Amino acid sequence: MCGIVGFVGDRQAAPILLDGLRRLEYRGYDSSGIAVCGDGALRVKKARGRLQVLSDLTRAGADLPGTLGIGHTRWATHGEPNDINAHPHVSQSGRIAVVHNGIIENYMILKEQLLRKGYTFRSETDTEVVAQLLDYYYDQCNDFFEAVMCTLNAIEGAYALGIVCADYPDRMYAARKDAPLLLGFGEGSNYLASDVTALIRYTRDIVYMDDGELAILSAGGIRIYDRQMRPVEKEHHHIDWEVDAAEKGGYAHFMLKEIMEQPRAIREATAARIQSGRVVLSDLTMTAEEIRSIGKIYIIACGSSYHVGMVGKYNLERMLRRSVEVCLASEFRYSDPIVGEGDLVIVISQSGETLDTMAALREAKKRGARILSIVNVVGSSIARESDDVLYTWAGPEIAVATTKAYSTQMAVLNLLGLYFGDIMGTVDYETYTAMIRGIQNLPTQMEEILLQKDAIHELARECASHEDVFFIGRNLDYALSLEGSLKLKEISYIHSEAYASGELKHGTISLIEDGTLVIALGTYEPLFDKAMSNVVEVQARGAHVLALTTEKHAADMAARVPMVIAIPETEQMLLPQLGVVPLQLLSYYIALERGCDIDKPRNLAKSVTVE
Ligand code: M6R
Repeated sequence: MCGIVGFVGDRQAAPILLDGLRRLEYRGYDSSGIAVCGDGALRVKKARGRLQVLSDLTRAGADLPGTLGIGHTRWATHGEPNDINAHPHVSQSGRIAVVHNGIIENYMILKEQLLRKGYTFRSETDTEVVAQLLDYYYDQCNDFFEAVMCTLNAIEGAYALGIVCADYPDRMYAARKDAPLLLGFGEGSNYLASDVTALIRYTRDIVYMDDGELAILSAGGIRIYDRQMRPVEKEHHHIDWEVDAAEKGGYAHFMLKEIMEQPRAIREATAARIQSGRVVLSDLTMTAEEIRSIGKIYIIACGSSYHVGMVGKYNLERMLRRSVEVCLASEFRYSDPIVGEGDLVIVISQSGETLDTMAALREAKKRGARILSIVNVVGSSIARESDDVLYTWAGPEIAVATTKAYSTQMAVLNLLGLYFGDIMGTVDYETYTAMIRGIQNLPTQMEEILLQKDAIHELARECASHEDVFFIGRNLDYALSLEGSLKLKEISYIHSEAYASGELKHGTISLIEDGTLVIALGTYEPLFDKAMSNVVEVQARGAHVLALTTEKHAADMAARVPMVIAIPETEQMLLPQLGVVPLQLLSYYIALERGCDIDKPRNLAKSVTVE
């Protein structure tokens, strides 16, 4: 999704803006641009394609003098990706420049009004309306602050805005509604960004803007106002990520680095939450009474986070003996959901900014449900609007394809199940202690699996030329197959589908023919024999099978199947925690063999902040 950076301070702005944009590249974009105020002029440079094009165009920023500026990476929504539609957008008078994330829903009406007033438009974007409207109001009242307020009152929809005006080369304006925006406080310099990774090289002192707020940034400080234009004091957050956490650190891709980081990420997410063999969730404010009286449990999420929810359904139902409904956020929000007081809604999101998930959260909250979110990005919108947050502590995840966030979400959900199950009295002692032991062993077992990476690369070479793949599995293996399949399709562009194995003969098996690649998951011990029968069934139709199973069954599987990956034994409910690692590696190496842009797959964005 689009990214915003802003700088005002004691140094040349353009190189800092380009550096910030480079750190936002991972979010996905198709064009970029910067606007800088300096020497009494507003200079704007924009370019379609990679950021390097913009950097070359400006000689790494050297051509743009000035200590105040805004920058943007655009992910096209209104109008094709080209230089004209790229941000910043400049008003007709050439005085005002705007960068914007989100969608201005009433832009057509506003555009018509401005056209009637003689304004002309260059781009097809909704954002240009904001620049022209600012220009119009500024002309009317001759007070830029008032012009900003009038514009914010006129526009509807979602926005994170960065605004500069050539008449005020010492300040920039920022406004937020339903799109993330944060302010960075430095020494003699201040910053604006849509994502903290753009700023950690410069400052760790961050304030998250809330909906309806407006900020004015100058080199000397930042003033923040609420909807009624009253000054507000905001909580400052210290970001303790290492700068190199957002660097590749010698790996070819962020995705591989993040796969390899999983043992450490799981340790971070779980170690402090297990004390003397018991789960301690000190970050949870729910009382034992409130936990015992939970009615229905919903899990709401999108994409891979939804797949964590699918695993969670099996595990929470087993540990809590309560029914758990897993919902796609994009469906839940429009489904007139039967959710209300006494119900618990568990919202899962790596970014904490996914628009559909946010909207579903608000819908559930409006209806009286209690919201507990599992989120990676500290201070994100979902975290802030939830009644309780359990952070996953995975560190920054840069690759579009999630890996360590998925694993840590699952680990936290398992801890939550144990914690609730203990209080509800629904999880027996043997299961509880086996799970604790299993969770503590996960990092070491993951390290063992990661040692197989070269062997998995070999298998990937054999699979890389297939154009259709089916992932099959039952129970937890089915939930895991959904993630395995998504991982493969998003980065390798191979058509891939996941099916509950039992469903094959209800239609899908007709697609299996000579040489079709089937990735058969057979890690779930209670249903191993059935997994084996499904392997036989697809082989009989000519399928080429790669199987994932546990060490205990590896030999049996290898007797039937040419390609086998084995994971160590663990408690049943933890098998997807281990099983996902080889599936991530397999997708990674298949995509590598096919020469794909692994960290930035086509058409995808890291954080989906539009509908
Ligand atoms: O940030 P979120 O967890 O809310 O994102 C949800 C999905 O967009 C995300 O999980 C997506 O499916 C992954 N990037 C896939 O790897």
